[in-house]
Amino acid sequence: MEQIAQKDIVISIDNVSYDYRSNSDEFVARGVKGVSLSIERGDFCVLLGRNGSGKSTLAKLLNGFIVPDSGTVLVNGIDTKNDDRIYDIRSKVGMVFQNPDNQMVASIIEDDLAFGPENLGVPREEIEERITWALETVNMSEHRKRSPNKLSGGQKQRIAIASVLSMLPEILILDESTAMLDPKGRAEVMETAMRLNKDKGMTVILITHYMDEAVGADKVFVLSEGELIGQGTPREIFRDRELIKRAYLELPIASSISLELIEKGYDIPFALTDEELVEGICKLK
Ligand SMILES: Nc1ncnc2c1ncn2[C@@H]1O[C@H](COP(=O)(O)OP(=O)(O)OP(=O)(O)O)[C@@H](O)[C@H]1O
Ligand SMILES: [Mg+2]
Repeated sequence: MEQIAQKDIVISIDNVSYDYRSNSDEFVARGVKGVSLSIERGDFCVLLGRNGSGKSTLAKLLNGFIVPDSGTVLVNGIDTKNDDRIYDIRSKVGMVFQNPDNQMVASIIEDDLAFGPENLGVPREEIEERITWALETVNMSEHRKRSPNKLSGGQKQRIAIASVLSMLPEILILDESTAMLDPKGRAEVMETAMRLNKDKGMTVILITHYMDEAVGADKVFVLSEGELIGQGTPREIFRDRELIKRAYLELPIASSISLELIEKGYDIPFALTDEELVEGICKLK
């Protein structure tokens, strides 16, 4: 019998809404509204949206930190409303946040990495192995016995990623984890996330408001005022000027220059990166 290839959906969100409410249950703000999307295992996804568009709310819904007012969030087929499985979900969905300094709990890096697995009751020898592996993965092995204080921002974020890796997550969510970094630090963290995805097959969800960080993604989701207003490949999303405008996003310079040239009648392809733009211009007759 012919086999039909089944997509391996790791996250499935169906018509999810969440509002922030006061202690007296009064409406404070819309978090997300009517969001439906699914993420395939091994994908590198980018969640794009301007400030307050609901990105972090969606991230918190994904690891069960909050549960939807309506709709369902399934992680590996498990409903985040299922209290008995919440530990499973939290350990499968690792989150790295914006400020690296708020994510360090110990004064020695290896202790910081041990903290998560210790809480999960992982045996000592296995914790040692996980620390070694996690530090190698983010290229920080030589810092194992050091204090995190002396590290650069990019190195601190790589340690924060390693701390999450020590829990062996299946999904890594980076919530604006590059926002406070200089360009070098940003590049280090992006490279680490890309490598985890390509080499280890980890599902990565990168949250950002920088469109240029979405260039290499398999899939881009665009949020605006709590609603999912677009999804597609970077090329599909970047070419949709109406969508970009509605989301108040800014195209990377290479893309907007190429669009202007195309509109002026030059025969060059739409460019996502500087390299593509230069190549297009060089081929002009
Ligand atoms: N704890 C909270 N209490 C009340 N309102 C909140 C809370 N957290 C977020 N909000 C509101 O919910 C909406 C969505 O916020 P969210 O933090 O999800 O957006 P975001 O896209 O992550 O923004 P940013 O780019 O600033 O991180 C915003 O209007 C925000 O003000
Ligand atoms: Mg946020």
